[in-house]
Amino acid sequence: MVDRADTAAAELSFPEGFLWGAATAAHQVEGGNVNNDSWAKEHDPNSGYAESSGDACDSLHRWPEDIELIAGMGLGAYRFSLEWSRIEPAEGEFSNAAMDHYRRICAACRERDVVPVVTFHHFTTPTWLTARGGWEAADAPEAFSRFVTRAGAHLGDLIGWACTINELNLIGVRAYDLGTSSFEDNFARHLAINEAMVRAHRLGVDALRSGPGAFPVGLTLSMDEMVADPGGESVLEAAREILEDRFFRATGGDDFIGVQCYSRVHFGPEGQAPNEPGVPTTQMGYEYWPQGVEHCARRAAAMTGIPVLLTESGIATDDDAERITYLAEVLRGVRRALDDGVDIRGYFVWSLLDNFEWSHGFGPKFGLHSVDRETFARHPKPSASWFGAVARANSLVAPPG
Ligand code: BGC
Repeated sequence: MVDRADTAAAELSFPEGFLWGAATAAHQVEGGNVNNDSWAKEHDPNSGYAESSGDACDSLHRWPEDIELIAGMGLGAYRFSLEWSRIEPAEGEFSNAAMDHYRRICAACRERDVVPVVTFHHFTTPTWLTARGGWEAADAPEAFSRFVTRAGAHLGDLIGWACTINELNLIGVRAYDLGTSSFEDNFARHLAINEAMVRAHRLGVDALRSGPGAFPVGLTLSMDEMVADPGGESVLEAAREILEDRFFRATGGDDFIGVQCYSRVHFGPEGQAPNEPGVPTTQMGYEYWPQGVEHCARRAAAMTGIPVLLTESGIATDDDAERITYLAEVLRGVRRALDDGVDIRGYFVWSLLDNFEWSHGFGPKFGLHSVDRETFARHPKPSASWFGAVARANSLVAPPG
């Protein structure tokens, strides 16, 4: 006989083998990444970057502690990225020492029964490539593929899951911000970069599949729940095509699609509209909208027909109780989608640590752990122990208090 409490628990449990993890990205945690485009922007007074990434969280040296945090929480997976500019500091010059470094990280994950989920490109591009046009250089996809081939050959036997490019749909969005040419020029450049990203992804998949190891390969997409305000329907459709649908079509033959959603956005007749007045927002200025993850997972699954891995989800807030409430609400939505047959394989919190949030610097706090900016000591927040309990129970356990 199953009593009501058991039934409720079963409803909130997750499928066997569901992957629970936390995510970071090389440039946001390693420190001292002086050879990529972000470092250049951080030191350009006109770029709008708040500060330098500097030593970041010193994960370059403290990665064993990071893996210890993951394993100690009871998580089964760690998503991290390779820093291309360390592995290939000059064009065509590959560093075995850097690749060995990432090999040690993968091996340490394996020793702790943590699945290494490896991202090959997470926003940063080596300066030797940006100096000749970055993703607008005609051979950028081939350059990326050469890097993936070398790194995949070095690490492939240890990789658990591979993401070729993080949020490849956002790389072209930056073309709008170049500010030097007309809107039409920027738009054309945006579309061209989209095509380069698709080509880079496809070449990356081929490179990984022809190397050692047998692991699922996919891309990750930045998604929002997109809503049309009155008169904004056609703008929303156009935005969907450029921001998401083009990339859904690029996943043919992939093993999964990584979905990352932080909020929802509105579109009016003139383009993206501001948040409705008075809605609660996060430290990033995004609308507080945990329901978006469920929406985006459903949409990505329906549009691609492949399994979904929720490769990032989280909230920037100083209020850790709010983080727990937010994540619990997200997970209720994930459970609803699973109930409807959506094939979701795992969920990764962004982020393991409070880290370098790109142009915002170290202000926004996404971490399950805080990091002392002087000593780099990591301190678990209540959300870390709660999320660890969820992972260990494979079930949405009640938030503390
Ligand atoms: C990115 C992360 C970023 C996070 C929070 C995602 O778009 O992959 O690098 O820190 O969102 O803004």
